[in-house]
Amino acid sequence: MALLPILRFPDPRLNTVAKPVAQVDERIRRLVDDLIETMYDHDGVGLAATQVDVHERVIVMDTSDGRDQPRVLINPEIVARSVEMQVGDEGCLSVPTIYDRVERHARVTVRALDRQGQVCEFEAEGLTAVCVQHEMDHLIGRVFVEYLSPLKRDRIKSKMLKKTRDEQGRGR
Ligand code: NI
Repeated sequence: MALLPILRFPDPRLNTVAKPVAQVDERIRRLVDDLIETMYDHDGVGLAATQVDVHERVIVMDTSDGRDQPRVLINPEIVARSVEMQVGDEGCLSVPTIYDRVERHARVTVRALDRQGQVCEFEAEGLTAVCVQHEMDHLIGRVFVEYLSPLKRDRIKSKMLKKTRDEQGRGR
């Protein structure tokens, strides 16, 4: 397993639309394992392949309290969504230190392939529902800050560019 570098907003590669996975093979399982390791290393609850510059429809997440129940979603689809919406604070490993409120469907039913290539379907609510919708947005090239006002988004963009410059200045 390996830790993968995470793209940072506003890197334009984050706007790439991911392709469906043709076959869940060893290459995909290696990607899944690396994504899981990288997500845990950064204390994230979810990570999409897009964020590590791999543009295939793969997501990993873990919203369990014990951080010991990784979930793998390959070629995920939302097959049902609640009319009811909820607003919650979101963050993203590609937009470190930024948290803001986003409105999402309160419940979604998701169908995907797991690490073995088996079809699984489940209903998500609460944090898991937020996480699924957030990560699936990454797969269509959308970062959560795009739901915020243009003013906020520009401010975040400047902050991230400065943060990246400062880190490079320190030789990172
Ligand atoms: Ni994210």
